[in-house]
Amino acid sequence: MDLDKALILGIESSCDDTAASILEINPNGSHIKSSIIRNQFNLHQEYGGVVPEIAARAHVELIDVVVEEALKIANVSIQDVNAIGVTAGPGLIGGVMSGVMFAKGLSASTNKPLIGVNHLAGHALTPRLTDRVNFPYLVLLVSGGHCQFLIVHSHHNYERIGGTIDDAPGEAFDKTARLLGLLQPGGPSIEEAAKTGDEHRFDLPRPLLNREGCDFSFSGLKTALMRKRNDLIEEQGGLFKQDICDLSASFQQAMHDVIVKKSIRAIDLYCEITNENPVFSIAGGVAANKKIRQSLENICKTKKVTFSAPPLALCTDNAAIIAYAAAERFLNDDYDDMTLSARPRWPLDNKKSAILGSGKKGPKA
Ligand code: KG4
Ligand code: ZN
Repeated sequence: MDLDKALILGIESSCDDTAASILEINPNGSHIKSSIIRNQFNLHQEYGGVVPEIAARAHVELIDVVVEEALKIANVSIQDVNAIGVTAGPGLIGGVMSGVMFAKGLSASTNKPLIGVNHLAGHALTPRLTDRVNFPYLVLLVSGGHCQFLIVHSHHNYERIGGTIDDAPGEAFDKTARLLGLLQPGGPSIEEAAKTGDEHRFDLPRPLLNREGCDFSFSGLKTALMRKRNDLIEEQGGLFKQDICDLSASFQQAMHDVIVKKSIRAIDLYCEITNENPVFSIAGGVAANKKIRQSLENICKTKKVTFSAPPLALCTDNAAIIAYAAAERFLNDDYDDMTLSARPRWPLDNKKSAILGSGKKGPKA
């Protein structure tokens, strides 16, 4: 790119958020000029989870609205935009298709370059958007659909050194919240309830804690919590508010312990590869959890590794991170054409075989 500055339009529709953003990139860094997110919580609330067909229809209805709003707030026109970046996977296929079809139409009608972005790359590259960190860095991607440790060697070279074999952590938070009658998304509800709870009251398992390596398993934890809940209901005829807070705190503590211990291992592995200005970063919705975030920051201090944690609004799904991942390709004149298609699965590290398991967004890459 020979321009002093460029404007990238980002579009995100891979799960239950329809989002658009205008990102300015210039030699001094990046500036988010607008970031519009319309979530669909209300549409899915009564079903207790994201319903793919409802999500896809809502994306179709909202996508042009959010793009127009993003342009308006940024005070630019579509003609000013230098490239269009869109999530092309992985995700709920109907939603991803809505975004890709819209972006293709916009690209064809305006003659702007089209860039299909891997949603996970959007999360994994966020530390470069926020803190301009250099490659290679370690990132823990923890969201509603994904969980993996990645060493990011470049914007198109990711090495997975661990991941979940079943549920993603966000999914475990969401399912646990549902079991406790708390609102979705479950992470923030559990975090809030845990504030007044006793994390020592219920003894929950820490799955795979003592197994070597950096893989996770979360489904047993959720089942153990369900048993404790059912025992209480049988004994007392229901749950008191304090029970819900104590169950939430005990669950959050177990999640915390597993994520922290595996992160220590992943940092050690990563530091064997590089010890020149090592950086550990977190991304994805669960990275918004303050207890987990704080402990990860503390272990980084102890290990003299720089900790890079995006602001909460850039942890959960948004289109600014998609625009940024597109910008990394735009700067290398690397574009897609009209053959771009939506992908339900799209592993970032395609040299390693997929980890088994499936959840909100299908098999964990
Ligand atoms: O990255 P994200 O917005 O969407 C996906 O790509 O999945 O992550 C959403 C997930 C949800 O499962 C939500 O419960 C979880 O992130 N989450 C949290 C917190 N805030 C959001 N989990 C734990 N603590 C939080 N504060
Ligand atoms: Zn995400």
